[in-house]
Amino acid sequence: MLDKIDSARKNFDEALTKVNDLTSLEELRIKYLSRKGIITQIVDSLKDVPKEEKPAAGKAVNELKNYTNRIFDDLKKSFESEKKKSDSFIDLTLPGRERVIGSKHIITQTLDEIKDIFKGLGFSVYEGPELENDYNNFTALNFPADHPARDMQDTFFVTEDFLLRTHTSPVQVRLMTSKKPPLRALMPGKVYRNEAVSAKSYCLFHQVEGLVVDTDVTFAELKGTLVAFVKQFFGKSVQYRFRPSFFPFTEPSAEMDIWWEPKGKEGRWMEILGCGMVDPNVLENVGIDSEKYIGYAFGMGIERTAMRKYGIDDIRILFDNDKRFLTQF
Ligand code: DAH
Repeated sequence: MLDKIDSARKNFDEALTKVNDLTSLEELRIKYLSRKGIITQIVDSLKDVPKEEKPAAGKAVNELKNYTNRIFDDLKKSFESEKKKSDSFIDLTLPGRERVIGSKHIITQTLDEIKDIFKGLGFSVYEGPELENDYNNFTALNFPADHPARDMQDTFFVTEDFLLRTHTSPVQVRLMTSKKPPLRALMPGKVYRNEAVSAKSYCLFHQVEGLVVDTDVTFAELKGTLVAFVKQFFGKSVQYRFRPSFFPFTEPSAEMDIWWEPKGKEGRWMEILGCGMVDPNVLENVGIDSEKYIGYAFGMGIERTAMRKYGIDDIRILFDNDKRFLTQF
């Protein structure tokens, strides 16, 4: 019996030299210590050992069992801690992973910039709905009943009375009916027109509306405000001019042009906004005393302004959501 125990131990020691990871260690444990393992079988065969040999044999078997158990425990621990170490190993020489960070759309950037400039000039920002009624979009703004802008060709009508606003000017009407003057407001937003889509026009675009109503407002102040704006937005050296124009809701009316020289092309005047003194009819339509109050207003297309500033020549690219374009700004 003692010989059997001795050779089991020798075989175990030899097999141990081939153990190099948790899997091979577990295989060895099963071979020796599982229910049918070599050592377990020796323990079972103790019952057949003659009485006088039993104490010595028992002691030897126990020693073998303790010895192998200790080795298994120790090796298991050391394999496990090695594995942990290699799992949490950080390779500081690996190149970093680049994160994709989104960017603001060029139209939003332009709107933000315009808002900031006018906030600096004392304007507050207001917004109105894109679904508007005929009264706010046309009637209150002094559009005659047969004005061509009311035509189905220009306006997306939703019902007979409701439409997608064709400009941001109805926000003027909403503001003047809900707030008492003095008013100094900037009203940005989306507008819709039923136009053929081309490099120059799109069925949807953005405008920024401006409105000032007070007792002592002048056309000179309107000009001064807009000149201050274009100088901040396009740079001090920008060349500009005002031309007389017509809008149903302003009298007198003007348009502002800036000089634009696209790279490699001949320069020319480009219209960027319409403006004027609020027509007294409009003030009366919203319940403001036109004998006491005067107003000026302006409306500017954002896409055109952004295209001019960033040298873009096709408006459609602003709505394509092509990342190769968007990430350039
Ligand atoms: N609403 C006009 C348009 O869409 C632009 C405009 C012109 C707005 C003159 C104004 C203004 O407030 O005074 O073409």
